[in-house]
Amino acid sequence: MNIEKKFLETIKKYRLCNKKEKILVALSGGKDSAVTAYLLKKFGYNIEGLYIDLKIGKYSDDCLNAVNELCERLKIKVYIYNIKEKQGKSIKEIWELVKKKKDLNNCAICGVFKKWILNKEARRLKVNKIATGHNLDDEVQTFLMNVLKGSPELSANSGAIIMNISDKKFIPRIKPLFYLDESEILKYAKKNKLVFVQGKCRYSQESYRGEVRDFVNKLSFKNKTNIINNFENIINSVKNNKKIKMQYCEKCGEPSRGKICKKCEFVGF
Ligand code: AMP
Ligand code: FES
Ligand code: ZN
Repeated sequence: MNIEKKFLETIKKYRLCNKKEKILVALSGGKDSAVTAYLLKKFGYNIEGLYIDLKIGKYSDDCLNAVNELCERLKIKVYIYNIKEKQGKSIKEIWELVKKKKDLNNCAICGVFKKWILNKEARRLKVNKIATGHNLDDEVQTFLMNVLKGSPELSANSGAIIMNISDKKFIPRIKPLFYLDESEILKYAKKNKLVFVQGKCRYSQESYRGEVRDFVNKLSFKNKTNIINNFENIINSVKNNKKIKMQYCEKCGEPSRGKICKKCEFVGF
């Protein structure tokens, strides 16, 4: 697979972004977001980086170092969001607090915070789009998980660009690696000598996603592409008649589907 060709085709086909826009790349320290930033920069897009430092020991420090090294090499500005300083609680304290109220795993809680932080910081930094490193394997896993839960429509709010939310406070999120196979991304990252952290966060408790991941790992690129094509048929049919209407959270003012956003539901404000 020619990664660069597929990456450019995805941007063109789904009109993800253009060179006049400012794009904030959500950098995790892993290979996918590193390749996302590398490719956007290589093809002349105007990017900056944001790393959310969850402060969970050596793993977070290693990721921070990798992000700093990458941004130095790409000559891009990088912002570091320290969750403990900004939220007044470490992510471990947040996990404990939320688990008293809700039966959720660590990563589900991190996910809500990461999305909330990304949107708010993107607005503060006045960027046009947020780019994440989600790849074909991630998207197939999420879609299959929603199908297995019996709720494929949950995937309607996904895709290479999140389109069906139109709100001035919601910054569109793009996934330029949406159609790229994980193993190819890894090869590309190594070939271009990108610095990244391998392996998962040791606090990750995604047992169900883990099982689905093992299954997806056994599929061929063709199988995965077929699954994602089915996914597109479904989201297209849901998207046409269902634009998500956003409200503003009564506590923090961020865009939300309910009166209170998930993040404030978790920890108050
Ligand atoms: P994950 O859910 O960990 O596979 O991450 C998916 C994408 O979310 C990554 O490719 C990044 O773009 C973004 N991301 C994950 N963790 C962070 C983080 N700590 N700071 C900034 N972006 C992140
Ligand atoms: Fe979510 Fe580690 S990043 S549990
Ligand atoms: Zn809120």
